Amino acid sequence: MRRFIFSLQLEALMRSKGLKQADLIRAAEKKGIKLSKSQMSQYLAGKTMPRDNILEFLAEELGVTKKELLLMKAPESAVIKNGGTEMRTFKKSTKLDNVLYDVRGPVVEEAARMEAAGMNILKLNIGNPAPFGFRTPDEVVYDMSRQLTDCEGYSDSKGLFAARKAIMQYAQNKNIPNVTIDDIYTGNGVSELIQMCMSALLDSGEEVLVPSPDYPLWTACVTLAGGTPVHYVCDEESDWYPDMEDIRRKITPNTKAIVIINPNNPTGALYPKEVLQQIVDVAREHQLMIFSDEIYDRLVFDGEEHVSIASMAPDLFCVTYSGLSKSHMIAGYRIGWMVISGNKRIGKDYIEGLNMLSNMRLCSNVPAQSIVQTALGGHQSVKDYVVPGGRIYEQREYVYKALNDIPGVSVVKPKAAFYIFPKLDIKKFNITNDEKFVLDLLKEKKILMIHGGGFNWSKPDHFRVVYLPQMPVLQKSMEELKDFLSYYQQE
Ligand SMILES: Cc1ncc(COP(=O)(O)O)c(C=O)c1O
Repeated sequence: MRRFIFSLQLEALMRSKGLKQADLIRAAEKKGIKLSKSQMSQYLAGKTMPRDNILEFLAEELGVTKKELLLMKAPESAVIKNGGTEMRTFKKSTKLDNVLYDVRGPVVEEAARMEAAGMNILKLNIGNPAPFGFRTPDEVVYDMSRQLTDCEGYSDSKGLFAARKAIMQYAQNKNIPNVTIDDIYTGNGVSELIQMCMSALLDSGEEVLVPSPDYPLWTACVTLAGGTPVHYVCDEESDWYPDMEDIRRKITPNTKAIVIINPNNPTGALYPKEVLQQIVDVAREHQLMIFSDEIYDRLVFDGEEHVSIASMAPDLFCVTYSGLSKSHMIAGYRIGWMVISGNKRIGKDYIEGLNMLSNMRLCSNVPAQSIVQTALGGHQSVKDYVVPGGRIYEQREYVYKALNDIPGVSVVKPKAAFYIFPKLDIKKFNITNDEKFVLDLLKEKKILMIHGGGFNWSKPDHFRVVYLPQMPVLQKSMEELKDFLSYYQQE
């Protein structure tokens, strides 16, 4: 029993320190301590206990005392003293070690501290339309209030028939093939469905191609599900389209699926048919599933048309996501959906897994489902926002020009959504840490934005602006940014 407990403790400490067996063996060699691979394997399998000198060495490398390593005493870091009594504390699961979600991360926490201290922070960190004066269409609110008393019970786990029927028709209008009512799942936002899809799909070591930059929930959910996100680059020089060469280079026998975010958050890119065709070709060649996050599909400018990649891949297994958070400005109601299409035969077992998870969460928010039919039918007020004279269109025009006018900043014009992803001249500003850049901006100008790293972008040279605020506020924020960048030098 003691050996077994020791093995668990050793494994947990190695994992929390990010150390592999080979790292410890190498470190032992440097210190002149004999530690072989088979010894390590035996300790980790709970077959033997190390001798005292090895125990001492392992404790030192893992940053604990010998007693802590033997679990005779909780690690110092996990102890809180309550008077004279040592209290056990509870740590988060190591499954979360590599999970990142900076859209609500440490910089945002600093902003919350500043707010608590009485400061007024302009939050351009999250695509949440309501606080910026975007109102839900009246008809949607009215229809929900009329139906509230009918929505007191659980619905079918996939959703109400009427909601799914409306989504099915929406999918038909987008030419998504082979979709029946059973292929439609509603969720508490697209967020819940992304997590469900990754949990149902991935075993340890299986890889999913995810864009960089991405909406970070994708990377987080692949990681949390035990899979490995492999980032392919979207190329700023080519309107932020996926770099097909990079995708091809990164496919391995373990690659199971490719994720695209179209229209894209954070870049605002909209993929034309030719780009989608190339992605379909690669997916077809390597038998990959396609997950397409299309939550911004109705927020498209310049008369462009959004094309669902699933409409071009009837022979592949596709999952397409959308919802009402952005197009109908009801992010708080929590309603999204996914549509399974194409060659469903090859995903029969996976669909069983999805159904299990869907059943386990019982159903999504029923009042929000009750207005899907209303929202998807009739006049689409979102269309008024994205044409000249419309709020989101005009704000895009302004923010694009204002950013390009700042010395040391350049930016590709977004074609959709309400984000823009500018590039900083890191030499000019001496920037090596993009998180520090947004933190410095927050502290000095009380404007909150998210650094490129928060979107799994590997260089410290980007940040994302949410351009939802009313024009006067947006103008003020750009003036402040310009002023900040007229003197900013990172230390
Ligand atoms: C690309 C993308 N997908 C999904 C979501 C989550 O949407 P929902 O509110 O439906 O959970 C967001 C939210 O910002 C997003 O930008």
